Amino acid sequence: MRVLLGVTGGIAAYKAVFVLRALREAGHRVRVIPTEAALKFVGRPTWEALSGEPVATSVFDGATGVDHVALGRSADLVVVAPATADLLARAAAGRADDLLTTTLLTVTAPVLLAPAMHTEMWQHPATVANVATLRARGVTVLEPDSGRLTGADTGPGRLPEPEAITAASLALVAPQDLAGRAVVVSAGGTREPLDPVRFLGNRSSGRQGAALALEAARRGARVTLLAASIDEAARTSAQHPAIDIVEVETTAELADAVDSTCAAADVLVMAAAVADFRPATTADRKIKKDGSAPDVVRLVENPDILATVAGRPRERLVVVGFAAETGDHDEVLELGRAKARRKGADLLAVNAVGSGKGFGDVANAVTVLDSDGEQVGEVAGSKQDVARGLWDLIAAQLH
Ligand code: C5P
Repeated sequence: MRVLLGVTGGIAAYKAVFVLRALREAGHRVRVIPTEAALKFVGRPTWEALSGEPVATSVFDGATGVDHVALGRSADLVVVAPATADLLARAAAGRADDLLTTTLLTVTAPVLLAPAMHTEMWQHPATVANVATLRARGVTVLEPDSGRLTGADTGPGRLPEPEAITAASLALVAPQDLAGRAVVVSAGGTREPLDPVRFLGNRSSGRQGAALALEAARRGARVTLLAASIDEAARTSAQHPAIDIVEVETTAELADAVDSTCAAADVLVMAAAVADFRPATTADRKIKKDGSAPDVVRLVENPDILATVAGRPRERLVVVGFAAETGDHDEVLELGRAKARRKGADLLAVNAVGSGKGFGDVANAVTVLDSDGEQVGEVAGSKQDVARGLWDLIAAQLH
């Protein structure tokens, strides 16, 4: 998607850097259009380096391409953060005195303005009227946060947090087909302690689960992300106002968390790699090389959370599992079909893992089966692409 990020001249301009990064990390192309005043707060090289795109403030920069028209026409989404009182006034009046306001007159895509200014300016009748005018025209004007302003003063006028701006912006272009739904996603890998410092675990990063949580939140769901030792990248990518992160470590803790959250949920997606076995006993002190260490670690089987939840009578909960298998395409699919029938989940996303496939930061390809093992879809690409494709299939089950 092509996003235009307008930045105007307020002290909060530095926070737009985080909005830019979040939009880029979500895979979007971003053209930054600062005003001249914005460049007094954050300079052109920052915007150019972080966006990887040229940065202009005036219609006379690069005039050969008639940038304001080309930019406006090609944009899928426009975000202005921070939007000063002056920008709100110029946009409401339909002025075209720099590249940003001129571009705002040529866009047909959704526009979101994130205001930031002193409380007096926000509450001034002129600003109130400008906001009303812009909203009546279909522009989304966020309410500023209340809190500490530039100086010692506090009150409404603070720029909303970058995650909230990014989330609200992307929600404008995402289908809101999960609005009002409660979704539980497990991610990462469970760990079963051998002693206070060692565990049996797996290589799951949690990034696919985090991408699923984020996509659901963007589509309007309230999400509980059950995080089993997810890595930092996964944790950072799941920052969204509609996502609650609940930390779990062992399979037993994950099972308890699933039970307590699923009673009120519409969808459970078990993307976590759950340890099938745990040590029969856990040493309460570190195991030493002094001859006391056991030769054999006895394992006991963990409950299958997915099969248990899927097998219970349920009225509304849609249950989705993952199956990570090794082998060639046909072998993986055959194993997946057998697993789909055995687990009884409404949907099972089957993917090949091993030798660089599936785990960590690499592209994925999954085949989605129903509880009879019949193929209902295939999705491939980045973990974000897979998350989008999977939610398309899951959302269809909800209707
Ligand atoms: O049997 P397998 O581990 O391949 O199944 C994978 C699917 O089952 C995943 O969705 C995983 O989260 C879930 N699972 C579970 N409880 C277990 C093992 C796996 O919920 N004990």
